[in-house]
Amino acid sequence: MKKVITYGTFDLLHYGHINLLRRAKEMGDYLIVALSTDEFNWNEKHKKCYFNYEQRKQLLEAIRYVDLVIPEKSWEQKISDVQELRVDTFVMGDDWKGKFDFLHNEGVQVVYLSRTPEISTTQIKKDLNDIN
Ligand code: CTP
Repeated sequence: MKKVITYGTFDLLHYGHINLLRRAKEMGDYLIVALSTDEFNWNEKHKKCYFNYEQRKQLLEAIRYVDLVIPEKSWEQKISDVQELRVDTFVMGDDWKGKFDFLHNEGVQVVYLSRTPEISTTQIKKDLNDIN
């Protein structure tokens, strides 16, 4: 069974996220999403989520492409995640291009998928703010 992993915040889930998850699942048989915790988002990414971790997790678990959701609590956990979960392929959107190539050293295939144009959580928040 080929295992794929991806990492992200996935706040205000949108079709760009779904496109990414669909293509990630197509790269293997079992898709793991490492979902940034609220603390990790705030402390490391300087992002405040609209939906909290449990709410974002529930949404991801309802998506047919997603088999398992685990917490992302640090930048450093990727190496132990791919080892412990026996991951074959690591997938991210190409806004992260080149950043995680070091996972090649763990025998993992590293793939950056093109982002879906013109949609992001930041853009949704901005557009809604402009309407009101
Ligand atoms: N993603 C994508 N296409 C988009 C938006 C996101 O492929 N239009 C991918 C990202 O590249 C990442 C994953 O979805 O691999 C999760 O991204 P995340 O940062 O949670 O979503 P964004 O919408 O980019 O959120 P933000 O605006 O807060 O950065």
